[in-house]
Amino acid sequence: MSRLFVKKPLGQLLNEASESEKGLKRTLSANSLIALGIGAIIGAGLFSLTGLAAANNAGPAVTISFIIGAIGCAFAGLCYAEFASMIPIAGSAYTYSYATMGEFIAWIIGWDLVLEYALGAATVSISWSQYLVKFLHHYNIHLPAQLTSSPFETVTMLDGSVVHGWLNLPAVLIVVCLSMLLIKGTKESAFINGLLVALKVAVVLVFIAVGWGHINQANYDPYIPANTGEFGHFGWSGVFRGAAVVFFAFIGFDAVSTAAQEAKNPQRDMPRGILGSLLICTILYVLFAHVMTGLAHYTEFAGSAAPVAVAIEKTPYEWLKQAIIVAILAGYTSVILVMLMGQSRVFYSMSMDGLLPKSFATVHKKFRTPYKSNLLFMVFVSLFSAFVPVNIVGEMVSIGTLFAFVLVCVGVMVMRKSQPDVPRPFKTPLVPIVPILGIIICFALMASLPFDTWLRLAVWMALGVIIYFAYSKKNSVLGNKL
Ligand code: ALA
Repeated sequence: MSRLFVKKPLGQLLNEASESEKGLKRTLSANSLIALGIGAIIGAGLFSLTGLAAANNAGPAVTISFIIGAIGCAFAGLCYAEFASMIPIAGSAYTYSYATMGEFIAWIIGWDLVLEYALGAATVSISWSQYLVKFLHHYNIHLPAQLTSSPFETVTMLDGSVVHGWLNLPAVLIVVCLSMLLIKGTKESAFINGLLVALKVAVVLVFIAVGWGHINQANYDPYIPANTGEFGHFGWSGVFRGAAVVFFAFIGFDAVSTAAQEAKNPQRDMPRGILGSLLICTILYVLFAHVMTGLAHYTEFAGSAAPVAVAIEKTPYEWLKQAIIVAILAGYTSVILVMLMGQSRVFYSMSMDGLLPKSFATVHKKFRTPYKSNLLFMVFVSLFSAFVPVNIVGEMVSIGTLFAFVLVCVGVMVMRKSQPDVPRPFKTPLVPIVPILGIIICFALMASLPFDTWLRLAVWMALGVIIYFAYSKKNSVLGNKL
């Protein structure tokens, strides 16, 4: 067999997991896993993109866009759940592909996951910084615009002058702080994540409950505004385009699977963590979007950087605005935390396999966390947070994630054929229909992204292929055994 397509035997993978006494510590319960999922899911997608999708694509029917997005993610989520219960090892889609499609594809997917997790953390840290600026404004603290934007952005000041950004300092600071927390320990990080999740979910629930009484039914008429003649601009095509926009809001449910090696009972709890967090977030999203578009007319969200604030203005509760900003800051913090954690676990697995330098697999003696991986991504993510505009990294995250979802759906079908008898504590229903639908939906969403994003994906992947042939192939533990 060509070394490129050498597959990691399942037995070996499971042995590695049971040897984890020496490695990562099993501290996460089913509830911590669900909280981890919600931690990574509810963030910029809900608080920023709901308004955009309503104003530009779907009107009040953005609720239907959320349901379509959730169905698309559920297909991939069901496939993730089968793998995560069968191969409960850190590394997620990377590890699954190593067992099903061989080393080269596994490398490609591991390299691709950097786009999802590391750039996901960078994207949300940039939005976090914008909300911090807003929050501090309220208390008359004004951070200099040069230190809160990327050099590729200009900011118009109150006196009309235009300044160029230097770097986004708050975004870097949050990445550094959370990396330190992750090094300190998984249990500590999960605890802080739990607090942040409780806070953001509480505010989301308060918004829904308080806003419900102030809904103006006239705002729902028409529920699906007529198409303007342009594809994706209202009408049903707009509802589908809206689903592609709000897809970002669901990214993160798969991050649960990167923590498989730290779960107390991964076979049982992985599917619960993945599917449970996806279900809870979908319900919250639909209710949140329903209240938002019921409070304000969808046209009022156009061009607003803080669409939730537009909706709150329709209620007599001014305090809710600051509460929402606090929830947003907490929410974004947990997204960054879980994304950074997922990223370090994927790199940990890749270096355990020799595809990356072994030092990234070193676990800290006292804290039992992959601290070198954490430190590497602290620097890597900080560079993007400091210097790159948010829309560029955001689209890279979407395309990278969708690509990973496609490969996981393919992997489930391959594994059912090649290893039909391996115990699967959770089985994806209706194979191959569910994975095939997952692939079709993910491809359709990828197709809706701009050409430039595809180009950046191609460049990133080409870089990955060069590194594979220059380093990883020669150093692969499995390859060298052949
Ligand atoms: N789903 C995450 C968010 O919306 C990435 O911020």
